[in-house]
Amino acid sequence: MKSDSFIFSKRSSLSHQTAWIAPSNIALVKYWGKHGLQLPKNPSISFTLSNCVTTTAVSFSPNQKKEEPTFEFYFDKMEAPDFHPKIDQFLARIVPYFPALQEHHLKISSHNSFPHSSGIASSASAMAALALCIVDLERQLHPELSEEDFFKKASFLARLGSGSAARSLKGPLTLWGKTSAFSDSSDLYAIPVEAHVHSDFKNYCDTILIVDKGQKKVSSSKGHQLMLGHPYADKRFEQANRHCVALKSVLENGDLEQFIEITESEALSLHAMMMTSSPRYLLMQPNTLQIINKIWDYRVTTNIPLSFTLDAGANVHLLYPAVERDKVIEFIKSELIGYCQSGQFIEDQVGLGAKKM
Ligand code: PMV
Repeated sequence: MKSDSFIFSKRSSLSHQTAWIAPSNIALVKYWGKHGLQLPKNPSISFTLSNCVTTTAVSFSPNQKKEEPTFEFYFDKMEAPDFHPKIDQFLARIVPYFPALQEHHLKISSHNSFPHSSGIASSASAMAALALCIVDLERQLHPELSEEDFFKKASFLARLGSGSAARSLKGPLTLWGKTSAFSDSSDLYAIPVEAHVHSDFKNYCDTILIVDKGQKKVSSSKGHQLMLGHPYADKRFEQANRHCVALKSVLENGDLEQFIEITESEALSLHAMMMTSSPRYLLMQPNTLQIINKIWDYRVTTNIPLSFTLDAGANVHLLYPAVERDKVIEFIKSELIGYCQSGQFIEDQVGLGAKKM
């Protein structure tokens, strides 16, 4: 499929109201490095979460100017001009793929289920929820749009807002980026990974230990840029490709040892890329390392398949099968909570994807 096949020609302005809930996601194989208009340098695979979500309602009305979409944005019911540049950029990028949007004014109201200052990135769930509302408007003009094409287009648009947002629509797992492992994979949008996923992974737990509530030290767009000309970039992209192929088998056969091997290696490789780029960044904090060492000790002494992954920040995502939940929560409360800022952690688990309200 080419980008052009996402353009439908019908132009008209409508009044329409809709609201969608879109989940956050946590990458198991990381996307780090992009080219062109938000195209990934390597494929990535993520767990779709269920509790960390963004709810967005959009009320569309005809816009008299008809030159560009206009909008107002409310976050937690308050006008939030800080978000305007990101939304402006997103709308400008998607208009070529939905020209009728120019004839609309959008009143956007958004809310996150997780605390704003928790260090958890909300761009994936936020862009996915907004993209879904916009394709919902487009479906009013094109009722022939199939369910599958609806989500494909929403993922395509979400990608233009934030790459990882392409993966925040379907569950329990999604894949974004062309890989030999999945014949229908694409750099333009994410696809659900659902066939033959081992039951252990359908309700896998992700407990997020909040080590640092602050803003990211380096934005992900800056981070992606640092991969251009990075001395280890080619090897890193090769590794991610290999990991996608290997993870596909692991997701089918439920081999938790291999799951841990791949996902922890991915997390540390992402951070290693940041440590060896120019300029270089240390995104972990002392408490991140303390937690990782504790997890490794715990795994050896208990044989419980608890592992971790990291985003481009200091927080630690603990990954484990749902049957181990009670024991892991006890471990967190007795041994890890002291490393969390204000003792904060967020319990989540794999979910089924976005929902219309
Ligand atoms: O979607 P972006 O541009 O914020 O990039 C996300 C990058 C990571 O979260 C670090 C990895 C990933 O694949 O989600």
